[in-house]
Amino acid sequence: LAGVNGFAALSRPSLAEDPNKPLVRILFGTQTGTAERFSKQLGNELRSRYGDSTTVDVRDVETYKPEQKLATEKLVVFCMATYGDGEPTDNAAVFYSWLLKEAEAVEGGEKEPFLQGVSYGVFGLGNKQYEHFNAVGKKIHKSLKTCGATPIVRRGDGDDDGVIDDDFEKWTAELLEALDKSDLVGKRVDQNGHAALPIAVPAYDVEVLRAGAGREDVAPFPSGTGKDVHSPFWANISTVRELHTSQSDRSCVHVEVDVSGSGITYEAGDHIALYAQNSEAVVKQVAELLGFDLDARIVLSVPKGAAAGDAASTLPPPLPGPISIRTALSYFADVLSSPHRDALGALSTFAADREEAARLALLGSAAGKAEFAEFVAKPHRSLLEVLQAFPSAKPTIGAFFGCIAPRLQPRFYSISSSPKQHPHSIHVTCAVVRDKMPSGRVHEGVCSTWLKRHGDGAAVPVFVRHSQFKLPASSKMPLIMVGPGTGLAPFRGFLQERAAQLASGAELGPAHLFFGCRSRAHDYIYQEELEGYVASGVLSHLHLAFSRDQATKDYVQHHVEAQAGALWPLIDAAGAHLYVCGDAKNMAKDVHKAFIALVQAGKGCAGTAAEAVVKELSDSGRYQRDVW
Ligand code: 2AM
Repeated sequence: LAGVNGFAALSRPSLAEDPNKPLVRILFGTQTGTAERFSKQLGNELRSRYGDSTTVDVRDVETYKPEQKLATEKLVVFCMATYGDGEPTDNAAVFYSWLLKEAEAVEGGEKEPFLQGVSYGVFGLGNKQYEHFNAVGKKIHKSLKTCGATPIVRRGDGDDDGVIDDDFEKWTAELLEALDKSDLVGKRVDQNGHAALPIAVPAYDVEVLRAGAGREDVAPFPSGTGKDVHSPFWANISTVRELHTSQSDRSCVHVEVDVSGSGITYEAGDHIALYAQNSEAVVKQVAELLGFDLDARIVLSVPKGAAAGDAASTLPPPLPGPISIRTALSYFADVLSSPHRDALGALSTFAADREEAARLALLGSAAGKAEFAEFVAKPHRSLLEVLQAFPSAKPTIGAFFGCIAPRLQPRFYSISSSPKQHPHSIHVTCAVVRDKMPSGRVHEGVCSTWLKRHGDGAAVPVFVRHSQFKLPASSKMPLIMVGPGTGLAPFRGFLQERAAQLASGAELGPAHLFFGCRSRAHDYIYQEELEGYVASGVLSHLHLAFSRDQATKDYVQHHVEAQAGALWPLIDAAGAHLYVCGDAKNMAKDVHKAFIALVQAGKGCAGTAAEAVVKELSDSGRYQRDVW
């Protein structure tokens, strides 16, 4: 640890690749930033390990031209996340479908295996809670092989349900071992296995504009169509209404987002993403701690004039400019989540106090894993709290946005309306996150808290993400919907859709809705609407589970099992579609088991046979989940 204090080695990007040196290309497909973080982490590791002898290039797979470049690479490493129901992330969609098509062409004999001579490694990021765990990483790995490329390491399967950083660390170690044995990289700088170069602190160049100096501030997001992640639309929030009664000690809000004037079209079951902001108080705290002037106007850029081969990420800055530091901190810095280990290592280089520097360096190192778990991970200590605990560590603006604060991510919500009734307004049903942390801190969710306090009448950048969670084509198909808590959201959209179908004279099949909450008197959200739908025949059966209104827990899955006699014929003979929305960790698993028990009882078969039936329902798209 000696010598780390005060040592900020700013890595410099090289925009030109040196043809005389081996090149490691790292490509990522990211939705919430983890794959991007891992890619940068790996990039730093490779740079410190191979120093000047190897060029490392980290890129968003979206900006990469695979049809021109992939066949000419020597070594490509992919960090690819799977999103939703086995789908690629937004930024990887084009690459993914290109590669799969190429692999198909090779398999069909229409094309030669054109990636011969290319070595690769794939680390997939996913969550074992989902059925199509790491589908994207798996398919990419397989397709590359089909196209003739050679894997240099086993496929890595990161599981976000466990400790995904550990999965990545283990896989990285295997990759490095394989690289050392190969001739794909240059000479290793330090043969002892220690990082030979000081901790790299990738920082952006910062231009601070003088007050009144020409150039106007830009908006944090340019105004687009709202059709996808690349083009958020500045929508107005027209309504924010509390859904819990005054007896409840929690809060859940009904939000209406006015998207008129945008290019947005949506369907019931889709998701909407909102770019929320940090609260003013949080922004102020960060600025005070770090000595940033909130009114200063900045432009971040990738450092220029780097020596060729001294490669670092050429990723563009995470925010546009000129922009005030206030706006930058409000929209782009995630300071309420726990920092990642790398960030602490980088932070250590800015600590003026030697003890703080040493402790941060330990927390940021592989050797300090236990300390990190104790101090950061277990108590869910936020980046803001870490900054408070190490007051002498004052990173520059360029380093803060470059490698310390992760980018604040958009929040996705299941849309709770139907365009048949609200073509220009998208409804969201949002539980306001307020949790007491082990450290005593009250954690307030960034987006939900902002919606509740400041949302009404405010503008917010939004975009829609289309999903597979859809009503069957025919309104006559029976529906079985399970959605406790805010899991009710997409079903409210489905019911609005059915109400519109009914009004236009369509025939409706039976629909069972299983809703659960703590107490009829506290958090039975949309009660009037749901009961109105029963009265009008939009909903044929409403099954309610109030978990805390009696001594023993009453949960939705208990009702599913109790209704087996009525539900089985709908599934077995009438082609019913099954839907589950809400908590993935416990509820969705328990409901899944209830479905299996239901089939077992209905069919009178063994558990394994019932499991196969449920799997077949899922494979054929008749059993869908929107869980988180
Ligand atoms: P509880 O908090 O009283 O345990 C919406 O959050 C509802 O889902 C609440 O009534 C909650 O009950 C309930 N819930 C909690 N765990 C569940 C589980 N494993 N299965 C189904 N419902 C659950």
